[in-house]
Amino acid sequence: MANPQKRIGILTSGGDCPGLNAVIRGVVKSATRLGYDTIGFIKGYEGLVDPVTYMPLSYKNTSGILNQGGTILGSTNKGRFAATVGVDQRLSLDPELVAEVQVTCEQLALSGLICVGGDGSLTIAEQLYQNGIPVVGVPKTIDNDLSATVFTFGFDSAVTAATDALDRLHTTAASHERVMVLEVMGRHAGWIALYAGIAGGGDVILIPEIPWTFDAVCQKILDREKQGKRFTLIVVAEGAELPNGGLVTQEEEQGNRQTRLGGIGNIVASEVERRLGRETRVVVLGHLQRGGPPTTFDRVLATQFGAHAVRLVEEGRFGEMVCYRPPAIVGVPLREAVQELSRVSPDSSTVQAARALGISFGDQPTDAHPFRKRETAGTTDAPKENVEALQPA
Ligand code: F6P
Repeated sequence: MANPQKRIGILTSGGDCPGLNAVIRGVVKSATRLGYDTIGFIKGYEGLVDPVTYMPLSYKNTSGILNQGGTILGSTNKGRFAATVGVDQRLSLDPELVAEVQVTCEQLALSGLICVGGDGSLTIAEQLYQNGIPVVGVPKTIDNDLSATVFTFGFDSAVTAATDALDRLHTTAASHERVMVLEVMGRHAGWIALYAGIAGGGDVILIPEIPWTFDAVCQKILDREKQGKRFTLIVVAEGAELPNGGLVTQEEEQGNRQTRLGGIGNIVASEVERRLGRETRVVVLGHLQRGGPPTTFDRVLATQFGAHAVRLVEEGRFGEMVCYRPPAIVGVPLREAVQELSRVSPDSSTVQAARALGISFGDQPTDAHPFRKRETAGTTDAPKENVEALQPA
């Protein structure tokens, strides 16, 4: 390597998402032009500690990866570095691991370490920064639940996949006069369900941020039938709570692994079928919305994030995370960036626009005025009153 005094390390951590390779390429290209070598740590933070594993990155081995999904560096979700649950309640990283990371960074003479991750991985990055590691963060997640940035890369690709699924479900639902339920990811935020629901012509969108009832969902189906529409598309976020409270999970939290959400789509489908006797089918989109190539929007955003992360290293602005504040890409302190999750505001203009079109959020009659304050649906299956405060996972 030409000049060990100018070297940048990069790692990708947590669940993968489309656009990670575009960030890596963006970092390598802009770093090279500024005279840095770049090395990529393998499998996230794990690559920084025994056995330290990394690969030199160059124009050559990052050529052609812009449009590839996943990450050429691999990733670890909840490995040895997973002891974090947000800024104020976080468990500290094991000091021995931190010391190992310090040694690795010193031995490799890193000018900066670019950590690409979601809320958990960026909380780890922030802790490393507090321990003197020259860290710069890049936000990634299909869930779009990081509050500092208007969009994370990966989100648009996930929404595009979910919208494509809805387009396909639309034609078969119409042909067979069925109710189709599409369950999408997003953890405790309804961004994917909201955006895909609007883009894909969904009739009902159920999200964690808006308590809903089966009465209102069924009423929407009946209203559509009165208008001659004998099929209905329901989009439900995996993290939407059931009307009587409670998340639907695949697997409870175990050690470092967070609770795996999933299964609400089946419950919605069978309850609608039980109440209305309409033929209902459910599709759980799962990891199809996380794999595959990034959309053009995500390619551009990820490339900008990569280039800006190098700029932060060059300017010595460690402990910052790049984020998108349209039209600019800026840096904000990592500590601020991981303080709270971003969730859909029930009164946002996006939700209002959806309501104006007659999309139901399962919380009120669809003939209610879309721009006036919402009324709580008073029904037999009233929503849980207190939704638990959320912390970054
Ligand atoms: O955070 C991204 C995400 O895809 C969530 O939307 C989903 O709940 C979770 O990760 C799935 O994680 P895993 O890959 O461990 O199944």
